[in-house]
Amino acid sequence: MLDDRVRSVLARMEAQDADDHGKDIPVSERSLAVGPDSGRLLFALVAPNAGCEVLEIGSSHGYSTIWLAAAARILGGRVVTLEQEPGKIDVWRRNIADAGLEEWAELVEGDAKETLSELEDGFDVVFLDAWKDDYEVLFGLARTKLDPGGIVVADNVTTSSTVEAYAAARQADPTLVSVTVPIGHGLEVTTVLQP
Ligand SMILES: C[S@@+](CC[C@H](N)C(=O)[O-])C[C@H]1O[C@@H](n2cnc3c(N)ncnc32)[C@H](O)[C@@H]1O
Repeated sequence: MLDDRVRSVLARMEAQDADDHGKDIPVSERSLAVGPDSGRLLFALVAPNAGCEVLEIGSSHGYSTIWLAAAARILGGRVVTLEQEPGKIDVWRRNIADAGLEEWAELVEGDAKETLSELEDGFDVVFLDAWKDDYEVLFGLARTKLDPGGIVVADNVTTSSTVEAYAAARQADPTLVSVTVPIGHGLEVTTVLQP
């Protein structure tokens, strides 16, 4: 549910991002969060699914995690999210606690290319939002963790030629059903027919 705590943390993070825009802040400290429209789509994909198991790759400060975890909370699901930047992990923990979502979101520290293979299988929804050069390898790893019919949502199709190529490859693969949703920075939504 999107209660007042969740709404207030999301609004605070959106204001912070707007304030940071144009400032010379290192990438290691920037939120790089999706916009509110992408957050709403992630929420819509997770909320109706009872016990939805969500995997997020690229947690940053927790903006997208909050949308996913608030949706998973409705019907008893949960989010596992992967992040390697220590400073971001501290901010993530504070934001998730402020939103009251600790029970529904767990962060696994380290490089997703290593931590992902150690996770239990059985995810329904994956949100892929790490460094773009790693999308192919991360998709391959995440695919093995999905239940049949699970989906992978990848961000930045319209802002990165690497992700544009990723999207084209997904759409050409007959074992997948994939479409680019032109909101925010472009989301590739891929249903995996054969994990
Ligand atoms: C675009 S930001 C994520 C933004 C976040 N999903 C949101 O919308 O609020 C990408 C994040 O992925 C993390 N990241 C990139 N490659 C990673 C990897 N191989 N393992 C773990 N984290 C990674 C970066 O440190 C960064 O915080």
